[in-house]
Amino acid sequence: MKGERTCYTPLFLYLMLMVSDWEVQIKAQIRLRYAQQAENESWKTKNPNETGYPIDLIENLPPDLVAQYSGCGYLFKDINFDGSEMVLDLGSGTGLDSYIASTLLNTGEVFSLDMTFEMLSNHNIHNIKSICADMEYLPISDASIDVIIANASFNLSINKEKALSEAFRVLKDNGRLIMRDIIKVTDLPLEVLTDPLSFNTSLGGALDELSLESKIGKAGFIDIVISDYQPFSYVKSVKIEAKKISINPPPQP
Ligand SMILES: C[S@@+](CC[C@H](N)C(=O)[O-])C[C@H]1O[C@@H](n2cnc3c(N)ncnc32)[C@H](O)[C@@H]1O
Repeated sequence: MKGERTCYTPLFLYLMLMVSDWEVQIKAQIRLRYAQQAENESWKTKNPNETGYPIDLIENLPPDLVAQYSGCGYLFKDINFDGSEMVLDLGSGTGLDSYIASTLLNTGEVFSLDMTFEMLSNHNIHNIKSICADMEYLPISDASIDVIIANASFNLSINKEKALSEAFRVLKDNGRLIMRDIIKVTDLPLEVLTDPLSFNTSLGGALDELSLESKIGKAGFIDIVISDYQPFSYVKSVKIEAKKISINPPPQP
């Protein structure tokens, strides 16, 4: 599956017809914005070093992926992989984190998923498969993923409850959710609140910490930990970790 890319456009269009005009319009704007970013090399995004990626790690990563990174922080600190995991990167963009995850795996695989086709680069890495789909309608089997990662993408989902319930569905028992995203710490300035395009840049969809934690818990996750607060524009970037634990754990020997 070298650099394979799969696009679920007919499914995507069908689902778009089933949701509200508002959601359709916002999602179309988000896709347009990130398609433009993917095709415009001069589009300014943050350097991963500025958001906490170790310099020695960045120096050994493909420069084009580093240049196109648009996340809000480093999510692999203190996270262990045994190498056999199936990893799903939600809203992967061009895939810097998918690439880092792929280097931590042995027999495992990474699914790099984004709804903006132009964002999905052909990584040419044997254990990364790109999927063009919406995180609110995952074309992925139940209980098939060990680790979900998401960097600055969950906030862009319009229906966060749906995105979280899909994440919960596709995770195996003991599966881990590891995200880096932004939270509101105060009311956003008027110019952001009145900007119809603010949803495109995550700010419009940012939640406060309590609402975020409550939505993750309502989706069924436990052991929710929000940590590593860093200033990020008008908001804060945080690391979010949670687990899916079986309601009926296997009997102990
Ligand atoms: C700010 S970028 C972050 C990209 C990447 N995670 C990184 O760290 O560079 C957000 C990405 O999320 C994608 N996205 C937004 N809403 C999505 C959705 N509902 N389903 C899948 N991808 C989505 C966008 O297309 C965009 O590529």
